[in-house]
Amino acid sequence: MKTTSHIHLLDHPLANAFLSDIRDKHAGRAVVRQRVRVLAQMLFLEATSNLPSRVVRVATPLTMTCGTHINADLGLVPILRAGLGMVDGILELWSDARVFHLGLYRNEQTLEAIEYYNKLHHHKPVDIAFILDPMLATGGSACVAAQRLKSWGVKHIKYLGLFAAPEGVKRLSTEHPDIPIYLSALDSHLNSRSYIVPGLGDAGDRQFSG
Ligand code: PRP
Ligand code: URA
Repeated sequence: MKTTSHIHLLDHPLANAFLSDIRDKHAGRAVVRQRVRVLAQMLFLEATSNLPSRVVRVATPLTMTCGTHINADLGLVPILRAGLGMVDGILELWSDARVFHLGLYRNEQTLEAIEYYNKLHHHKPVDIAFILDPMLATGGSACVAAQRLKSWGVKHIKYLGLFAAPEGVKRLSTEHPDIPIYLSALDSHLNSRSYIVPGLGDAGDRQFSG
């Protein structure tokens, strides 16, 4: 992992190969889903490397010993639709995480993130929330998600994404400098329709309907 300030970039040959697989426009849904799932796991492992833990006593069949338990309530916040593909792999690693779906779509004319589903306030805030979204383009959706989590009362937020444009990283870092950003790839730029270049196209379509 390469870390500059609060930006963490995966730096692993497997991650680079998985990214190349899903950039390929000929890759089908099955491949895209599997690679998104595994890249999400790699990001989650990095983003949880400093989780608080507490020492516990464990009775093995042979003796008592010391172990650790995680000392935090973790929440996954997938941004619909594309973030859904990142959830299952992470739940394989930490099956106790709560999952709060946040429905946002980008108005393709104004590029504004429009909210259409949010049940956050029906629950007690988690200790640490992980925003899951493969694409950080203009940063509009990530900033709305971060704002919703802060108004809900979450004190610690981390962003996990696969592809980012410099524009999105700049906006999220400027509006929410307290949120560490974990990425698989930092791409070149946004095109005239604010798609990430080289990117992988529409992350929702590539996973679910393309
Ligand atoms: C995509 C992506 C992000 C957003 C990123 O979702 O999953 O949520 O665009 O763009 P931004 O950084 O400029 O806000 P989209 O709006 O296409 O919805 P979908 O996942 O339902 O297709
Ligand atoms: N949303 C996507 O799905 N892809 C992009 O490149 C930008 C926004």
